Amino acid sequence: MVRTIIKTENMSFTYPDGTSALRDINIEIKEGERVAIIGSNGAGKSTLFAHFNGINQPTSGLIKIDGEAAVYKKKELLQIRQKVGIVFQNPDDQLFAPTVIEDVAFGPMNLGLSDDEVDERVEEALKMVGMSGLEKKAPHHLSGGQRKRVAIAGILAMRPEIMVLDEPTTGLDPKGVEQVMEILYMLNREDMSIIIASHDVEMVTQFADKIFVLHDGEIIGQGTPEEIFNDYETLKKAHLKSPKSAELLYLLKKNGVQCKVKLTVEDAFHEILHAIGEKSFHNLLHLIKNQLHHRLLHELGEENYHKMLHILEEEQENNKPPN
Ligand SMILES: Nc1ncnc2c1ncn2[C@@H]1O[C@H](COP(=O)(O)OP(=O)(O)O)[C@@H](O)[C@H]1O
Ligand SMILES: [Mg+2]
Repeated sequence: MVRTIIKTENMSFTYPDGTSALRDINIEIKEGERVAIIGSNGAGKSTLFAHFNGINQPTSGLIKIDGEAAVYKKKELLQIRQKVGIVFQNPDDQLFAPTVIEDVAFGPMNLGLSDDEVDERVEEALKMVGMSGLEKKAPHHLSGGQRKRVAIAGILAMRPEIMVLDEPTTGLDPKGVEQVMEILYMLNREDMSIIIASHDVEMVTQFADKIFVLHDGEIIGQGTPEEIFNDYETLKKAHLKSPKSAELLYLLKKNGVQCKVKLTVEDAFHEILHAIGEKSFHNLLHLIKNQLHHRLLHELGEENYHKMLHILEEEQENNKPPN
């Protein structure tokens, strides 16, 4: 059975100023899953993430990490933070040492590991994020994408089981986004559970196998990307858009084209090809059965005419997109 690594039970959180930021959150995340929490600004994503490693303590309800209800004492919190690593949205909130190497070494050093062990972890983490060779650089001299990767390395060096990344691609250029996503895929292949927050639906569709929709402090939807991005009501309520390819197919569907909504450009391409093929069959059959009916009957004879109709109808059936 797959292990549940994070589970919340009727978890709510209110900030000291009275802002009710999370209400009755019930989510379950399993080992090795790629999870995305999507929601617009102010939905509560960052507040939720701060519960995953014990920065925030629920006002009511509870959170279980690896089957155990979180305990908010120094020793237990340290254990949680070794298990769950959080990469904040803004690397500048995370990077503070004068050099890259010192920054990445900070976490493992605080775990009380030997110098050799720290060196080994830092080297490995920097290699994993493709930042080897830049150890002596000052973080503030790096590009946004590089700073993000150093921040990820700093968490990786703690060797967590679960990586939580708050808006990991916000503010990065396409190359930076690709590099970060590649790192996440690599980590997930090594069985690490990855949880990201985002409102970038294109990226989320490609990455996640499970999505939670957060709106105004509540979970209003959960499911696979296909389920979520076919649920227009929920998306609208959460002020989120669908991926562009899904929007295009949705428009076609609304206008009478027989097709299903697909989430990636490649899937959409095949779906549209199918739909066009079907449409041509439809038009051709219409022509044969109506305008050309008398002429073809006369030219071919009744038997051949019906044979031809039969073949075309059979082909049309074969060309229908699989359901
Ligand atoms: N430190 C804080 N004190 C009071 N309210 C806060 C604080 N941080 C966030 N909030 C409020 O909590 C809600 C959720 O915010 P946040 O978790 O940052 O959302 P998201 O990350 O989805 O944009 C918002 O209404 C926000 O204004
Ligand atoms: Mg946030």
